[in-house]
Amino acid sequence: MRHLLGIDELDADQIGEILERADYYSRALRDGKWDHNHLADKIIFHLFFEHSTRTLTSFEVAAKRLGARVVNWNPQTSSLSKGENFTDTIDTLCAMHPDGIVMRHADYGAPNFVAARSTCPVINGGDSWREHPTQALLDAMTMKEHFGKIEGLNVTIVGDIAHSRVAGSNMQLLCKMGAHVRVVAPPVLMPEELPFKEIEAHENLADGIKGADVVMTLRLQKERMDSALISSDAAYYNEFGLTLEILDKHAKGAMVMDPGPLVRGVQMEDSLAEDKSRSLILKQVANGIPTRMAVLDLVLGG
Ligand code: CP
Repeated sequence: MRHLLGIDELDADQIGEILERADYYSRALRDGKWDHNHLADKIIFHLFFEHSTRTLTSFEVAAKRLGARVVNWNPQTSSLSKGENFTDTIDTLCAMHPDGIVMRHADYGAPNFVAARSTCPVINGGDSWREHPTQALLDAMTMKEHFGKIEGLNVTIVGDIAHSRVAGSNMQLLCKMGAHVRVVAPPVLMPEELPFKEIEAHENLADGIKGADVVMTLRLQKERMDSALISSDAAYYNEFGLTLEILDKHAKGAMVMDPGPLVRGVQMEDSLAEDKSRSLILKQVANGIPTRMAVLDLVLGG
């Protein structure tokens, strides 16, 4: 792999190869046995133009577990504040010859733009509502770990489908890997088109989660809405908030997932998020490390 810009550019075999490598690193992390200096000669630039807890930190941990050194560039303290534009900033940083770039940006396709200008590999840590490929990969790893497979799983994604890059990448990955995908959202948060015709769209939570193996909730992406599309968080929660009662009535045995950040009292009830017998949320976070080690290895370690 030269870059990882989106799930849209991967086929099922390539996704399978990344998941196998992630599984290798997951076992290696448990046993303490892997090449700690695999990327020892590499310097990776983290260019996060949007805030992050999970993605930024787990990319840094993954890089350090493989011996790489990381430069956490900060847009707030950069010369962008003096009027330098995005392109000149990217050209300036690329002139320092990093071995790899991991980036997040609010603009659609920004990582593809940077990949076209840079001489080093670029990994997308999330752009606009388009793609968040490593999130979908770690979600897939989590499902595979729990259920032993992805093919044939019934996965329902609930929430702001229209503005979520996690939904964008997950819908593609899950369909490519043979899962049955449903999405649930109010009409204002449902995209005009879905990426695969097999994906079922629902406006009613109970209908959409019926018989699901996995229910994945998503945050309201208010920063990407032109105006307030939902009257209040409480109104959203009343109709689409996931509770143990609803889950047990319509999808008994389903596991819940959420890429985070979890906004308490909006996506799901607190006790469900914290119920280790029903929630895979912290497993998703933990699996971010071996998944990102796998991606760094495949992109930079060749
Ligand atoms: N899931 C995710 O991308 O979380 P962060 O915004 O904290 O990185």
